[in-house]
Amino acid sequence: MRRKILVIHGPNLNLLGLREPEQYGTLTLEEVNRRIESFAREKGVEVEIFQTNHEGEMVERIHGAMGIFDAIVINPAAFTHTSVALRDALLATAIPAVEVHISNIHKREPFRRRSLISDVVVGQVSGFGPDSYILGLMAAILMMERRDEG
Ligand code: DQA
Repeated sequence: MRRKILVIHGPNLNLLGLREPEQYGTLTLEEVNRRIESFAREKGVEVEIFQTNHEGEMVERIHGAMGIFDAIVINPAAFTHTSVALRDALLATAIPAVEVHISNIHKREPFRRRSLISDVVVGQVSGFGPDSYILGLMAAILMMERRDEG
C-alpha cells in the first residue's frame, strides 16, 4: 500500500536561507524540500509539500487532506503559538500529525514555548535544523507502519 504524507510549511518559511540564518540555517526552502523529497523517495512514500503565509489556507489544506493523506508533517511556524483554528482543523480531520520546528522552541522566548497543537499531534520534533523535517517524516512513516502491523 502506497503511503501519502502531506508536508506543510507555515508563514515566513518561504524566506528560509535569508531569514535569521543563526536560528534557521542557510538552506533555502527549495533545498529543504529537495531533501524531504529525496528522503521520501528512499523510503518509498509519496509526499506533497505546501507552504503558505495564510492561516485560512493552512486550515483549508488540512481539510482537503481528509481521505487522501495518511499523515501530516507540519511546521506551522508562528501559527504554532497563536492559532486555535489550526488546532481545531487538526482535531476535526483527525489525520495523525507530527509537529516540526527547525529551531528548539523550548530554548527561545517564553511565548514560543507554548504550542497550541502539541497536545493534538502525535508528537513534536524541535531543534534539529532542517533535519527536523526528516525526523518528522521518519516518525510519520514509523507511525503508519505500526498502525498497519495492527
Ligand atoms: C519555527 C519556530 C516558530 O516559533 C517561528 O515562529 C517560526 C519557525 C521553527 O521552525 O523553528 O517561524 O516554527
